[in-house]
Amino acid sequence: MNKIIDIRSDTVTQPTPEMRRVMAEAPVGDDVYGDDPTVNRLEALAAERSGKEAALFVPSGTMGNQLAIMTHTKRGDDVICGRNAHVFVHEVGAAAVLSGVILDPVDSPDDIIYPELLERAIREDDIHCPPTTLLCIENALATGKVVPLDVMEKVYETAKARGLSVHMDGARLFNAAEALGVDPAAITKYTDTVMFCLSKGLCAPVGSMLAGSREFIERARKNRKILGGGMRQCGILAAAGILALTEMPACLRTDHENAAWLRRRLAKIPGVHVKEDGIQINMVFFTLDHPKELVEALPEKLLERGIKINGISAGELRFVTNHDVTREDLAFVADCMEEILAEG
Ligand SMILES: Cc1ncc(COP(=O)(O)O)c(C=O)c1O
Repeated sequence: MNKIIDIRSDTVTQPTPEMRRVMAEAPVGDDVYGDDPTVNRLEALAAERSGKEAALFVPSGTMGNQLAIMTHTKRGDDVICGRNAHVFVHEVGAAAVLSGVILDPVDSPDDIIYPELLERAIREDDIHCPPTTLLCIENALATGKVVPLDVMEKVYETAKARGLSVHMDGARLFNAAEALGVDPAAITKYTDTVMFCLSKGLCAPVGSMLAGSREFIERARKNRKILGGGMRQCGILAAAGILALTEMPACLRTDHENAAWLRRRLAKIPGVHVKEDGIQINMVFFTLDHPKELVEALPEKLLERGIKINGISAGELRFVTNHDVTREDLAFVADCMEEILAEG
């Protein structure tokens, strides 16, 4: 069978052959007893990479974010996040269901929560208001943008001055670090806790990390058990996670360069409007001038040529470059797009 070129997301990446090998050979134990040597290695490594005292292996990014919210807050607290933040839009209302908190979304033209927006969003100390106790930020943003370090610093200072904890959804922390040309720890320095995914551009089959102070992570470990996230011989998965943190970050530059190349290439196709405003990671967003029927038929027409894309969402199409897609694959995608759009 010909290769399928899957540019729906970076979550579709396959574990590398080396990952499969180390998974087969990983020494394991019962992690709920703290006995899994491979998980213990991964957690120590993740803490070091994110500049935090401790880290916890969790099955998914969603669980990592929700554990952070659960551990930082008490029922009835007010939590500030971006209007388009994953915790608000894509986690099935879990913060309300699991932690009983109110998510208070902030509107921002570029999705970045600036200090003045944060100040305005914090609830007053008033008998009618829930206490605002947590800020959830994202970096990189789901829009493909990266929050600059000086903004991170100022927002963190503002949050701290107002007594808030700061959690960062860093599902693509390593993409943000690559784009900014810094260590991940230079970003997470401006957060109390961070979740980052091993399973997206870094190619591990499963898993994310939640990192923070030792005391916080111990409480989160207990909360993970409440959520049924205490896993047993999951060193099999952690083994791939270790490679995700040691070998794979260096590959993200190629994903970013490929996305930049694809943006330039697609922009040459008549009627394709590629978004260029500050997108720095492995994503390509664009709109099309073409008739609605053609735009809606695009996923099917591309699939006939072996290319998987997601359908239009909020008027935009999104292609995501990843480890399993080469520059040649992307050239083929662009050629197919040109051909299909020209046929009309
Ligand atoms: C920004 C962001 N945060 C969190 C998640 C959740 O990760 P998971 O799918 O592992 O639950 C995702 C998933 O795509 C994401 O894009």
